[in-house]
Amino acid sequence: MNTPSGSAAGPGLSIRAHAKINLGLRVSGRRADGYHELRTVFQSISLHDTLIFWPCDGAFELRCREAGVPLDHRNLVWKAGALLWDSLGRTGDPRGVVVEIRKRIPPQAGLGGGSADGAAALVALARMWGVTLSEHALAHLAAELGADVPFFLVGGTALGLGRGDEISAQADGPRSWAVLVLPGFGIPTSEAFEWYDADATARTLPSPRVDNLSNDLEAPVVRRHPEIGEILATLRGLGAARASMSGSGSAVFGLFADRQNAGRAAEALAGGLWRVMVSRTLTRAEYARRSAPGGPGGSALSTGGSLV
Ligand code: C5P
Repeated sequence: MNTPSGSAAGPGLSIRAHAKINLGLRVSGRRADGYHELRTVFQSISLHDTLIFWPCDGAFELRCREAGVPLDHRNLVWKAGALLWDSLGRTGDPRGVVVEIRKRIPPQAGLGGGSADGAAALVALARMWGVTLSEHALAHLAAELGADVPFFLVGGTALGLGRGDEISAQADGPRSWAVLVLPGFGIPTSEAFEWYDADATARTLPSPRVDNLSNDLEAPVVRRHPEIGEILATLRGLGAARASMSGSGSAVFGLFADRQNAGRAAEALAGGLWRVMVSRTLTRAEYARRSAPGGPGGSALSTGGSLV
């Protein structure tokens, strides 16, 4: 029975941070702040990280067993802690909580793993530090953390405007199964937008606008990474109702109306160079239930529980 060294007795808190896919992503221009003006439809999926928060007597600290996860200011959980601490007017460095991050959402995949963790951390740390924040205050802090962080305070299906941070909840769509395919490389978000700009400058004709659900970042990314195009074609060949890159990539998803067909497609894809996962879309109510701290989706833990 281990608790983090230097931890005080007291209950811990567990919270699930669910990934997203972008059902569509349209870029309508460049903003004065350097960001791009977006119209995107976010969709929560069942794939999730788990964050466990333990009270402690020392400095705020992150732990993660998976390799390659930064445990300092580069991590949005760390940033969420620093931002919230400052906004509460507390002095010095944040203290009193150890966060264990159990990562399952692949990084640099366009699945919002870092942003989901950041939003979950804001909610959980407010609780751990004994403060109640209004929805508005929470959304404001989330937008400061990153453009797609505010979505994770809402979940389900939602429209994102502006930088992607002006969120309005949409009616739940039909349940579907997403086959997620990950090539062996990630794509930094800023790079995908730079490629979009570079291609837009070179383009003489307007970009092909197929429908409101297409992803404007897809073509510039496929040009640099033709493998993404191969994955899209493969998913379509396997019967996906829709196949698209998620956000700025590199993950590609294929949507299937039923689990069996999604499973068959995933099996057909498995064993190659690509990592394949099957995930389900979540309604907003499911999202709220599953990501509630200490609720059925993230049970309250006692310090008597094992950390690993
Ligand atoms: O806000 P966040 O740090 O997640 O954004 C990462 C990068 O993605 C930004 O620095 C910017 O280069 C790009 N971006 C953009 N327009 C958006 C969202 C992100 O250009 N609406």
